[in-house]
Formats: sequence, C-alpha cells, structure tokens
Amino acid sequence: MDRIRIRGGRPLSGEIKVGGAKNAALPLMVAGLLTDERLVLSNVPQLADIQTMSLLLAQHGIAVERVTNDGRTLSLGGPITNTEAPYDIVRKMRASFLVLGPLLARVGEARVSLPGGCAIGARPIDLHLKGLEQLGARIVLEGGYIDARIDGRLKGAAIVFPFVSVGATENLLMAASLAEGRTVLANAAREPEIGDLAACLVAMGARIEGIGSDKLTIDGVDTLHGATHAIIPDRIETGSYACAAAISGGSVFLRDARLEHLGATVRILREAGVDIAEEPGGLMVKRLNGLHGVDAMTEPYPGFPTDMQAQFMALMSVAEGASMVTETIFENRFMHVPELNRMGARINVHGASAIVRGVPGLSGAPVMATDLRASLSLILAGLAAQGETMVNRVYHLDRGYEAVEQKLAACGVDIERIPA
Ligand code: UD1
Repeated sequence: MDRIRIRGGRPLSGEIKVGGAKNAALPLMVAGLLTDERLVLSNVPQLADIQTMSLLLAQHGIAVERVTNDGRTLSLGGPITNTEAPYDIVRKMRASFLVLGPLLARVGEARVSLPGGCAIGARPIDLHLKGLEQLGARIVLEGGYIDARIDGRLKGAAIVFPFVSVGATENLLMAASLAEGRTVLANAAREPEIGDLAACLVAMGARIEGIGSDKLTIDGVDTLHGATHAIIPDRIETGSYACAAAISGGSVFLRDARLEHLGATVRILREAGVDIAEEPGGLMVKRLNGLHGVDAMTEPYPGFPTDMQAQFMALMSVAEGASMVTETIFENRFMHVPELNRMGARINVHGASAIVRGVPGLSGAPVMATDLRASLSLILAGLAAQGETMVNRVYHLDRGYEAVEQKLAACGVDIERIPA
C-alpha cells in the first residue's frame, strides 16, 4: 500500500486548483440511470470513488465514457440491462446505494446490497427505504440485499425526514422526478451538492421547486432527457487546503473555490485567525498571525461540515488556547485523535466532543490513515510538524483527494508518495 512522506515546517505558497466536488459527482453519475439519452458531466474529479461508480453503472448497463483526454468530462448512456447492485461494489462505497431510487423509478425493480459497516459509524439507510415505501415501493430484506419493487409507477407523496440526510434526500429527489404526481420532501438536506443534482435534473426535464431550501417540491414527469452539466467545485477540498495554508503559516490561492458554498467553515476559520478573501477566479487564504482555539460543532449545511471536522481538529491542535470540537452527525468519527496525539497533539475525547488543547508544535511520526478526511488531517499535522511524518494506508485519501501530494508539492511542501 502506498505511503506519503512529509517533512514539515515549510509554509505553503502558491496556487491550488480545486477540482469538481466528489459528493456532487457521485449522485450526478447515478442520475445517468434516469434516462436512455446521454448525460454529459464536466469537471469530474479523477478519484477512486468515481471509478467505482463507473464500474457499478457499467454493470447496470450504463456505459461511462471519457469525452476529453484529461478524463474530466464523462458521457453516460445506455439502457438499463441489470437491476442488481452487488455487495462487492456497494460495500466499498456507500454512495452506491443511491442507485436504488432511480432503478425503481425507471424499471420498477432493484436489488441493492446493504452497504454494511463503515469505519465512521453504523450509517443506516432506513430513511431511504421509508421514503421509497411512501412512494409506493414494496421493500424486503433478503440475503443482505434490499429487494424493492413497484407495479406501475412510483406515486408522489409528502415525505418529512425526521432528521437531515444527504443521501436520502438525493435518492428520493431522483426517484420523485419520475414518479406520478407531486412529491414534497420536507426537512431535506440543502448541501450545495443537492442543489447541483437538482440543477442537473432540471436540465434533464425534471420539475423541482425550492432548490437550495429544506423543502423540495417535485412534480414528476414521464421521462427525462439527456443534458450537459458542469459539476460544482469541491467545498471540502477547498476547506482542507485552506487549513493547509493556515497550519503551515503560509498562503494559497484556491482557484475556482467558491465562498458561498463554504457555509460556517468560513466564519469558524476566520475566527481562528485565518484570512480568507474572495478574489477574481477563487479564494486567497493566508495566515498572518497566530491561530486561536475556536469551538466548532458539526451540523448539516450550512453548519460546519462533518467532512471538515478532522482537518479542523489538526489545525486546532497547534492553536493558542483550547477548542471544543463536537461531532453530531456520525458517532465514531474521532479515529484521527490517537494518531494526532502520537504527533504530540493534546486531545481528549468525551463522548461526542473532543477537547483540543493547543500545543506550540507537533513532531513527525509514522501514523495510520483511518478514513478519507482523517487521512488529510494527518497530512495537515505533518505540514506543521518538526521532522518526518509517514502517513500509511493512503488508499482512503485516493478515494476523495486528487493528486494531493502534487498539489501540495507545487506550493513548496516537502511531500512525496512512496509506492508500495
Ligand atoms: C454524505 C456524504 C458524506 C458526509 C455526509 C454528511 C456523499 C457521497 N457523502 O453521506 O461525505 O459526511 O453526507 O454530510 O455525499 N442516517 C440514518 N438513516 C438513513 C440515512 C442517514 O440514520 O437512512 C444517518 C447517518 O448514519 C448519519 C446522518 O444520518 O448519522 C447523516 O447521514 P447522511 O447525510 O445520509 O450521509 P451520507 O449521505 O451517507
């Protein structure tokens, strides 16, 4: 397995281009199941998860072809020939479960493996299933698979989510686009990636009101057609590299980054002493003075994202004063804490909160990446640490960050990938 070696102590200086959002690209690819016509997606990031999704769609009959040599524009199309999403793919990537709603809406049946355990908590799919049942689907669990069927078409319904779920909102939004009649999704997630999916569905002929709010009204149509759609920039990659500039005491221009997608991340980073300014074509991020401890609690968008929690904790570990970081979305998302502590951080976990007592400096160490965002938090700690940090098991990183070592090396960081 590849490893990443960082020799810390060099401030970032330069420019990083922010890629297309992984969490927008995955559901947008699934939207390719909703039509037999071609769906062309541009600004697709080159990531392991995108390849996994291409594999899954291919075995449903949807060919995913590269339109441009850089592989960033994909064309999806083809009739659905198989309605089973196998365990071997779904267990690798939970977003695979999003095919359930679209398959049901298009062909009236789907057999999708349950995602199974996940490193950052139980992550059930009950809201997806209850919502689809409200649209008329009959659902049974059989041999680890969800078997869902409908005679005729799904029927619009009023669905109130008991709490906010990004995936359930996306699954239901896609299914409802082809249902008969009106569906209202209340307490829907309003992450920018949902807005991006809705915009693409509208371009495909869907009728959706309330985009950007927590109440989506969908008037189902008989068929959707092909479209061309450019994926929004990745707000988590943006926030992660903003933390990289801040923790290293440097500056970076984040090309294509959008301030309006960052929600509470901007306020919290600014309070901590990070300078973030909008400039033509992107965001300029620098740290001029010291960092201060600031409390942060993860919440659905526009609150502080759980996907930024680990990176923010790395930053807080070298801030002046203490910070309380509370995780409200996932129950087991502090696995980076013991690794950061091995590098000299002083972090104590009490239930869903972690107290981070800032230390003057970290020291390089061999550490283990446990999940996608935790991997980046260890790289961040490595940027600030004295000496060498070796991040092991970086395959998690490759699921969601494109060319991280090239992007950081181009900004003066001493970082290299050591192939297995
Ligand atoms: C998406 C993101 C992920 C991010 C998460 C929260 C993608 C591909 N992934 O994941 O990076 O960390 O949103 O912002 O976009 N839940 C249930 N029942 C359900 C569905 C969810 O109990 O049916 C719970 C989950 O266990 C979790 C919370 O709801 O505690 C939020 O999960 P959800 O928003 O659904 O996350 P994902 O869509 O899986």
